[in-house]
Amino acid sequence: MKVTFAQLGPNQTIGRSMSFQNSATAFSSGRDEAPFAIEELFFSRTDKRGVIASGNEVFRRISEYSWQELVGAPHKIIRHPDMPKGVFYILWERLKKGLATGAYVKNRAKDGRYYWVYAVISPIEGGYVSVRMKPSSKVFAQAQSVYADMLKREASEGLTPEQSAEKIRETLSGLGFPTYSAFSSYAIAQEMAARDAALDRADDGRLNSMKDLLPTLQNLETEQQKLFMTFAKIRGIPSNMRIVASRLEPAGGPISAISQNYRLMSDEVTNHLGGFRVENGTRSMTESVLSRVHHGIFMMAAARLQREVKMVASEAFVTGIEGDDFKNEVEVLTTLLDTYSIDSGSVLVSVFSDVTALTRSAKDLRQLVTGLDSIRVLCRVEAGRLGANSVSLMPVIDQLDKFHIEIDATLERIMHLSERVKTLVEASMPRVFNGSLRYHHS
Ligand SMILES: Cc1cc2nc3c(=O)[nH]c(=O)nc-3n(C[C@H](O)[C@H](O)[C@H](O)COP(=O)(O)O)c2cc1C
Repeated sequence: MKVTFAQLGPNQTIGRSMSFQNSATAFSSGRDEAPFAIEELFFSRTDKRGVIASGNEVFRRISEYSWQELVGAPHKIIRHPDMPKGVFYILWERLKKGLATGAYVKNRAKDGRYYWVYAVISPIEGGYVSVRMKPSSKVFAQAQSVYADMLKREASEGLTPEQSAEKIRETLSGLGFPTYSAFSSYAIAQEMAARDAALDRADDGRLNSMKDLLPTLQNLETEQQKLFMTFAKIRGIPSNMRIVASRLEPAGGPISAISQNYRLMSDEVTNHLGGFRVENGTRSMTESVLSRVHHGIFMMAAARLQREVKMVASEAFVTGIEGDDFKNEVEVLTTLLDTYSIDSGSVLVSVFSDVTALTRSAKDLRQLVTGLDSIRVLCRVEAGRLGANSVSLMPVIDQLDKFHIEIDATLERIMHLSERVKTLVEASMPRVFNGSLRYHHS
């Protein structure tokens, strides 16, 4: 196999890493951690089977292996026995589908010491690349406990990797992450923020705005569900009105007509609610937007990590830590991060246009509901005309009043939240996409 980086011996390390190296000559009990600094990032590239083709010096140094030992070896050379099999099952299942995947991984250095990373593994032509950072967020602690639990269950329940993967997904779902993507985008965003804070770096405004989209979209989702539920309840009212009207015959004639009109108009409103749904009405619009935002956050954060590895590598060429051959890896990273930046930008454009459509739907709906409301007022007037005879009609009218207040308030909140989503999308946009939203404004 062609070695595409400078051949460095196992003990040829530079600067800060020296002290780590010197203390690690004897085989460790496995309880010790192989330390590395939070600013350090790992990089490695494999072929389609996960056989190591290349890496950066940080990766090699912490692993304690020489390049001769690493290149051509399967990546599992640094596999730690504490890692649940299910995690790798999820990783490979996703990679084979062409999906970039983030995961917490506990690794084992040659001397037995362990080190944790948050890895972002991406498919590239002919293989995969992995960029890793030191995890330090609260999510990391959560992930460690999930892993420890899964490792025990794999042994005690004799789980296959596939079954273990299924249980991991179930556990994540119980923690509020409907999909593995939702978990990994949350984790990467938290890790980036924790790392920025530890390194005294300014907050990543774009990533934060994109993160803030999630609770806003979740609130939007809740409001939409409320709207569907209120409309579902309202549907029984015209029948109730007709029943009451038939008891009032012949004086109830106008009420009968009013209820018929109400039914027709509320049917129209219900049809219009379709505008809030996607995929044949099976999912609400925000649900689909949410999964795109998860993807966008992941891509944005991954691109930032890749850019940083690339920048550090450029400096390392000057100091000689990385050999000239690493320039090929920098090219791979450049292509990848450009693709990911565009990907996260496209997600934002599509979210913006969907939410613009949602605002339009909410406005149309409000107009229709105003029509419906005038029928409700008519009903009240008619009840007044009937005087004492209308007693049986009053509970139905009161119900209508209540629903209309609810619908008005929900639509108001939907429009307010949609505007907030649009503001956050604009704040998350990469500069290269400037102007692309204006088109969707119209
Ligand atoms: C680019 C890339 C990077 C990987 N990095 C690691 C790693 O750091 N540690 C690890 O244990 N496995 C890593 N893997 C997964 C391994 O290929 C392997 O699936 C894992 O070690 C479990 O081995 P097993 O499936 O044979 O049990 C990586 C795979 C790829 C494609």
